[in-house]
Amino acid sequence: MRRVLSVASECAPLVKTGGLADVVGALPTALAAEGVQMRVLLPGYPAVTAGLGDARAVMAIDDLFGGPAQILSGQAAGLDLLVIEAPHLYARPGNPYLGPDGRDWADNPERFAALSWVAARIAADGVEGWRPQVLHGHDWQAGFMTEYLRRVNAGDVRTVMTIHNIAFTGPADPWRLNALRLDPARFHSEGYEYWGAISALKAGLIGADILTTVSPTYAEELTTPEFGMGMDGLIRHRRTDLRGILNGIDTDAWDPTADPAITPFKTGAGKRANKAALRAEMGLPEAEGPLCVIVSRMTHQKGLDLMLEALPALRAIGGQLALLGSGDPALEAAFRDAAAHDPDIAVRIGYDEAMSHRMIAGGDAILVPSRFEPCGLTQMYGLRYGTIPVVALTGGLADTVINASPAALAVRAATGIQFAPVTTDALSGALIRLGQLWQQPKVWARMQRNAMMQPVGWGESARAYAALYAELGAKA
Ligand code: ADP
Ligand code: GLC
Repeated sequence: MRRVLSVASECAPLVKTGGLADVVGALPTALAAEGVQMRVLLPGYPAVTAGLGDARAVMAIDDLFGGPAQILSGQAAGLDLLVIEAPHLYARPGNPYLGPDGRDWADNPERFAALSWVAARIAADGVEGWRPQVLHGHDWQAGFMTEYLRRVNAGDVRTVMTIHNIAFTGPADPWRLNALRLDPARFHSEGYEYWGAISALKAGLIGADILTTVSPTYAEELTTPEFGMGMDGLIRHRRTDLRGILNGIDTDAWDPTADPAITPFKTGAGKRANKAALRAEMGLPEAEGPLCVIVSRMTHQKGLDLMLEALPALRAIGGQLALLGSGDPALEAAFRDAAAHDPDIAVRIGYDEAMSHRMIAGGDAILVPSRFEPCGLTQMYGLRYGTIPVVALTGGLADTVINASPAALAVRAATGIQFAPVTTDALSGALIRLGQLWQQPKVWARMQRNAMMQPVGWGESARAYAALYAELGAKA
């Protein structure tokens, strides 16, 4: 078994703010089938330590960025976890990144530097006789691990950094250099300096042996100024080390035939009871047009402002909208306002896992108008539940949906609708196309069937990660 330590700030079902958690939580099981033994290193937020069964202390650290820490080894939700118990850093309730005022905790750079620090320690010293051969870090929170590896003797441990979202660069002011235990000689444009600040993500991107991102199209996009967020030069430089490996979804948790949160169904036609239940739950009236759903963080990335502007097109095809999400207060208010003025629009502000299943099971279509989307998971939930995805042609949305072009319809391969550019007009056009397809029940049913048959699990991608670790091992 190849030994891999996954290093991440979130892991479903213990702590989740987005798709990162789903991926980190799914990889160990998916990879076990490929001969990889993956343990996950997580910060000991209250939700994580509370969920940890049978925990034992396996390492003690006197001063982990301002206080003592111990590393606990234990199991939760079938995962093999290493958890950093460091109350001075993590014993804070709620969201892992934000304080009660909704702002980032001021010491976030140190809180996640500690995660990387412990990863390097485990690579060097092992725990209970277990030493990883590969450190696999996720996003900026794991970015400093390659810097810290330079200060320890970790033998031939190899490193992989996965970019789930390059928009989060993990910035810190330069005066924190010492506190972050970074080598000041490496604070320059070819090191971890980024626009005059320290960037944890950049540290990982320059230091890791291999970079991956969560879809092939996003890998391409990252090399461009439009999507690279100032890191595109670096990404171009490392292009031969960058792989795009598409995320999968948990096909057990998202199984329309056995989902405890819904009325199980086997075919698109079987969705009716779920649609009626969703309408009742959301207070939507009966209607002829398609019931469109959105389950999303409400941020600029997700393009929901465009959706607000495209509501007239949705209503023109007789469509209804049900939204579950939270985020930007201005967007939340604007959707609430739209719902207050139109009985065919219903909005639920909040985060609710079970409800997300009811939304996707009950919807006819799921809308994902993201400006950029490294992978995106909800469109894949939609495919699996016969809920036709209407998506922007970007990132993983480009890689997972087969657009209902005349050619794809002719060969009956279509699974959804894609639109470009990501503008209100193009989104409105996509909604009009949705309305036309909705008017053709046979075509619609065929699309649903295709969608439900499309493989969206981890199989192929787990093999790609396993092959990558093997390749790194061979180079060591
Ligand atoms: P991102 O990670 O950028 O938010 P993804 O599509 O990869 O986008 O993952 C989002 C995950 O979070 C999905 O599992 C989605 O179902 C879930 N999610 C987002 N908003 C909510 C919400 N309000 N309630 C429940 N689940 C949500
Ligand atoms: C990020 C991206 C999303 C991706 C997820 C998991 O949150 O925004 O597109 O699916 O990570 O990789």
